[in-house]
Amino acid sequence: MSVVVEIGCGKTAGPYIEGASHHYIVDTDEEAVKRAGERDPRFTQIVGTAACLELPDDSVDTILARNVFGDPTLGVGAARAMEILSVSPTLLDELVNRQKTMILEEAARLLVFGGKIIVVEQSTPEVATEFIAGLGSETVPLPSCLTQPKLVGLAEVTPMQYASRYADAQTWVSAKIA
Ligand SMILES: C[S@@+](CC[C@H](N)C(=O)[O-])C[C@H]1O[C@@H](n2cnc3c(N)ncnc32)[C@H](O)[C@@H]1O
Repeated sequence: MSVVVEIGCGKTAGPYIEGASHHYIVDTDEEAVKRAGERDPRFTQIVGTAACLELPDDSVDTILARNVFGDPTLGVGAARAMEILSVSPTLLDELVNRQKTMILEEAARLLVFGGKIIVVEQSTPEVATEFIAGLGSETVPLPSCLTQPKLVGLAEVTPMQYASRYADAQTWVSAKIA
């Protein structure tokens, strides 16, 4: 039985993956998690950061991040991002990229060998493209046990249940290989 974790779920998590032993939904926004949880009573709700989850090492089969790595203000918020931008655009990038890198490090800890993180981008895929292109550099490290995210067609994505909902998305997959 597989364990699924949807990170940065916002108000619209899912679909629930049939056959999962646990399908966690995670967001720092408590109200969003509550709203997303109402979509399916089988979700297990977690309010907190995807960069630090109280789940064991090597325990998760699939992590889904939808419009998370493409969020240009992730973890900062739009209002504060505007203030930071007026002072230093590079500082905003640094803060947001650090947040995304910490989430990837936590994903690397949580995934089982062969487990996958699926990055789905519907809103601003160009932001995710840029982040992914920079992965592996000194400033944006890629955890050594994760493969470089690869752009895939939805037909290559499992669980297939994601495919119908995310047909309009750009999707990358990275696997844990050590
Ligand atoms: C652009 S929204 C995407 C929401 C949803 N996945 C969607 O596609 O509609 C990004 C979400 O990530 C959440 N978020 C930001 N930083 C986070 C973190 N460190 N851990 C978990 N969620 C986070 C925000 O609260 C927000 O709900």
